[in-house]
Amino acid sequence: MEPTASAAPATKEINNIETISITDNRTGKQYEIPIDNGTIKALDLRQIKVNSDDFGMMTYDPAFMNTASCKSRITFIDGDKGILRYRGHSIDDLAERCTYLEVAYLLLHGELPNKAQLEEWTNNITTHTFVHENIKKFMDGFHYDANPMGMLVSTLAALSTFYPSAKHINDPKERQLTIYRLIGKVPTLAAFAYRHSIGMPYVHPDNELSYAENFLSMMFKVAEPKYKPNPILAKALDVLFILHADHEQNCSANAMRGVGSSHVDPYSASAAAAAALYGPLHGGANAEVLYMLDLIGTKDKIPEFIRDVKDGKGKLMGFGHRIYKNYDPRAKIIKRLADQVFEVTGRNPKLDIALELERIALEDDYFIKRKLYPNVDFYSGLIYQAMKFPVDMFPVLFAIGRMSGWLAQWQEMLLDQEQKIARPRQVYLGHDQREVVSLSKRS
Ligand code: SDX
Repeated sequence: MEPTASAAPATKEINNIETISITDNRTGKQYEIPIDNGTIKALDLRQIKVNSDDFGMMTYDPAFMNTASCKSRITFIDGDKGILRYRGHSIDDLAERCTYLEVAYLLLHGELPNKAQLEEWTNNITTHTFVHENIKKFMDGFHYDANPMGMLVSTLAALSTFYPSAKHINDPKERQLTIYRLIGKVPTLAAFAYRHSIGMPYVHPDNELSYAENFLSMMFKVAEPKYKPNPILAKALDVLFILHADHEQNCSANAMRGVGSSHVDPYSASAAAAAALYGPLHGGANAEVLYMLDLIGTKDKIPEFIRDVKDGKGKLMGFGHRIYKNYDPRAKIIKRLADQVFEVTGRNPKLDIALELERIALEDDYFIKRKLYPNVDFYSGLIYQAMKFPVDMFPVLFAIGRMSGWLAQWQEMLLDQEQKIARPRQVYLGHDQREVVSLSKRS
């Protein structure tokens, strides 16, 4: 339905469609703008002009604080109630009753797999865990102390050169094959990055192991003929992958959609998403939490650290969230998971500092007023560290879980008829036209 500009008194509905009435006080003109799913189309504002030369009204929303970039059916978050659901299933239910590969299937197909579907899905992903031998040469080119997330971002992009047919993004078979390959290979690339950083030989995938078990084998296998993963640690890692699998339009999902909207191959788009995740305000926060706990050192230093944060000298990493203005439901699950892991690995002494930090922060008006609660990153790093993952591998672990979410968001964007190449507008506040001053005359 076309929006209408009229002088008629504002009406609530037109043809049973809810509308919002806007009066432009510059011209006295009134506009009825249709409301769809609690939003108005920004393009419907373009008719609001002061004269025929006027480009028309736009919205201005830096960092998209209040802008829906898409319609999605994948993940639902209620930030005030601390609710997170993948395709309608609560994160608690999924973490409790499913494996990561089941959840990855759910994100991509919309329903949990039946037995036969899960078997086929698992086989297809398992047979794509190997990477081309040349990837090793590529990895060997990195400095010995290269950050593994930097290595992952690069090798994800490099995969696009091994699979040129992935460019055929409108071919469902090609998309499905790339989805198998990316979910299958991201743990291998992650483990290879780690092995390179410690100067250990790469460990090939063991396709008899489960997804999380195989990753642990490629990470930690030494000279034993077959790696025997601890079932409790493998289960905990599988749950952590589930908790990190998707989170609607977060920064890296937005990157996946935005870069993917140019119709580049999904390997290159996932490299862009991984690059966004690398940032300390996003997926890099789980490592920053550990650096922060190391900096604080002991519980008696916490009050001084909190004072510094409140004086604007830094952030309480692992706290706060754009959407959650309540406790991140994933943080609650991770906190419970920590107890199970520490049963096996021994308690991470930094947990005491983290718990005291949380206790103080949740009582402090600065954090309460800003609705800052622990997010997914606050406790996850403590588990990873107890499982002997180095801190700079933490964002890489986040990326392994999030790959299925990125691919689900990418595919939904591609199949959405309302979507096209992402190209935002701007508010230009720069110079008007001016002449070039010759070099000799420039001050
Ligand atoms: C993830 O989007 C997602 O879904 C992300 C994610 C996912 O699954 O994909 O959930 C994963 O990225 C979790 C977030 C991990 N990042 C961190 O833990 C880094 C620390 N947190 C902050 O940087 C911050 O809370 C963000 C980035 C997470 C959210 O930032 P917003 O929504 O832009 O909020 P803001 O920066 O505008 O903060 C509002 C106020 C400010 O104070 P005032 O200017 O009003 O005085 O709260 C303050 C901020 O200074 N604030 C913090 C704080 N976070 C916000 N103050 C101290 N410590 C913090 N952690």
